[in-house]
Amino acid sequence: MHLLAFGGSLRPASTTGQLLRAAAALAPASVRFGFYEGLADLPHFSPELDAEPLPRAVTTLRQRLAAADGILFCTPEYAYGMPGAFKNALDWTVSTTLLTNKPVAIMSASPSFLGGDKAHAALQLTLTALNTQIVEEASLLIPGVRTKLSATGEVTDAATRQQLQRVVAALGQACQQQG
Ligand SMILES: Cc1cc2nc3c(=O)[nH]c(=O)nc-3n(C[C@H](O)[C@H](O)[C@H](O)COP(=O)(O)O)c2cc1C
Repeated sequence: MHLLAFGGSLRPASTTGQLLRAAAALAPASVRFGFYEGLADLPHFSPELDAEPLPRAVTTLRQRLAAADGILFCTPEYAYGMPGAFKNALDWTVSTTLLTNKPVAIMSASPSFLGGDKAHAALQLTLTALNTQIVEEASLLIPGVRTKLSATGEVTDAATRQQLQRVVAALGQACQQQG
């Protein structure tokens, strides 16, 4: 089974990226993870650009999504929403059916005690518009994220590690049921 980890931050040392890597390391042996790292390469979405020949970064994005049985999203919160670059990537899928019925897990993380609840809700809304299969048991908000990661990005909080493990297992199971 192939899952794609898809983070919403452009920062190389982002906390959401670290959580995705931790989640991947906790996955069962039957699950293979890939990481989408092309957010910064995508042009701003415009329907006029959404025609052949497509920008190369868009083709790559679509290939990565098509190849995945399920997608593990993790977003930070910027100004009560998801980062613009992340929403931009999702906008590039609107004219396709690449995400239709695709099992997805929604995670958010924030240094605040709310765990990026508004970005989480915004992402859920967008993924609903894209007709994904949102796996409820694979939904996670991580508050106080900086206190749960070491300086080198390991998850130091045992409860968070368990939650990540549950998310990946639930997403994997949903993909298996669909396949
Ligand atoms: C421009 C900006 C806006 C932010 N707005 C919010 C916000 O509305 N809510 C929140 O909980 N955190 C907010 N934060 C804090 C981010 O959640 C925090 O920087 C987070 O670690 C970013 O994720 P990353 O480490 O994956 O890049 C904001 C940060 C920035 C830089």
